[in-house]
Amino acid sequence: MPRVIVTRRLTFNAAHRLHNPELSDSENRSLFGPCNNANWHGHNYRLDVSVTGDIEAKSGYVMDLKKLRDVVEEHLVDKMDHRNLNIDVDFMQGINPTAENLVVACWNVLAPVVRPATLTRLRLWETDNNYVEYEGQ
Ligand code: NI
Repeated sequence: MPRVIVTRRLTFNAAHRLHNPELSDSENRSLFGPCNNANWHGHNYRLDVSVTGDIEAKSGYVMDLKKLRDVVEEHLVDKMDHRNLNIDVDFMQGINPTAENLVVACWNVLAPVVRPATLTRLRLWETDNNYVEYEGQ
C-alpha cells in the first residue's frame, strides 16, 4: 500500500516574549534580542502539518485536508490566534515560547487527535526566513 504524506498549512498571529528568569535582564536582552521586549511583540506564524497514512479506497485520500484543517484549528489555531503565547495558551504555560518549544508543544497536542492518520512532521515558520521542524523525536 503506498503511503503518502499530505500537508495542510495554517496561519495564526500571536504575541510572545522570550525570557529566561534564571538570567539577568542584560543576559536576556543579549540572548533573545527584540524577542525579549518586555511589552511583547508578535509574529505571523505559519504551521505546515503533515500526516501520513494509507490511501483510503473510497475517497482516494490519506486524510481529507478540510478535516485536518478543522482539527488543527480546533486544537491549536483557535487557542493561539491573536493570543499571547506566554499567558493565554494552556499548553504553553511555563514554557519559553521559542519556535522550537512551540513546535514540540503543538506536536504533543496534535498527535493524538489526527488519528487514524499519523502525524509525521510539523514545520513552524516564525518569519519568512526562519522555520523549525519536528518529527516527534
Ligand atoms: Ni519573537
